[in-house]
Amino acid sequence: MTRRTTLTALSTAVALAGAMALGGCASTGGPELTVDGAFIPQPVGDMAGAFLTVTNDGDAADRLTSVSSPLSDDVQIHETKDQKMRRVQSFDIPANGELKLERGGSHIMFMGLKKQPKQGEKVRVELHFEKSGPITVDVPVEAATHNPSHH
Ligand code: CU
Repeated sequence: MTRRTTLTALSTAVALAGAMALGGCASTGGPELTVDGAFIPQPVGDMAGAFLTVTNDGDAADRLTSVSSPLSDDVQIHETKDQKMRRVQSFDIPANGELKLERGGSHIMFMGLKKQPKQGEKVRVELHFEKSGPITVDVPVEAATHNPSHH
């Protein structure tokens, strides 16, 4: 049974190397979220949409439950079905998966804008999750032509 012992020792070494590759960050087995590709099309009315991708490198699922921003006191999360948008309570972020908020699909919506953000500016947005701590993103405002087609 020397062979089995060797294999066990080897897989332990591989597991340790894998853990160290994560930058010494002790993984608790929870979700590990990062946000990228965020943008807000310069709004033309009193509402604005935001789009981004949340990537989960962890082995546990999470949920986007709410969004807050100085831009609006009423920030909602919407999904789009049959070209109509509808408010939802949360979006799933699968383990080792991603949540994509994109034009024509799910999105963040700022109701009753307090000001009109212009292209080139940034809007601070705080994402709240069921398990993970909040993530703050300074979202760039892009050209109005990026506006979601459903408005
Ligand atoms: Cu919407």
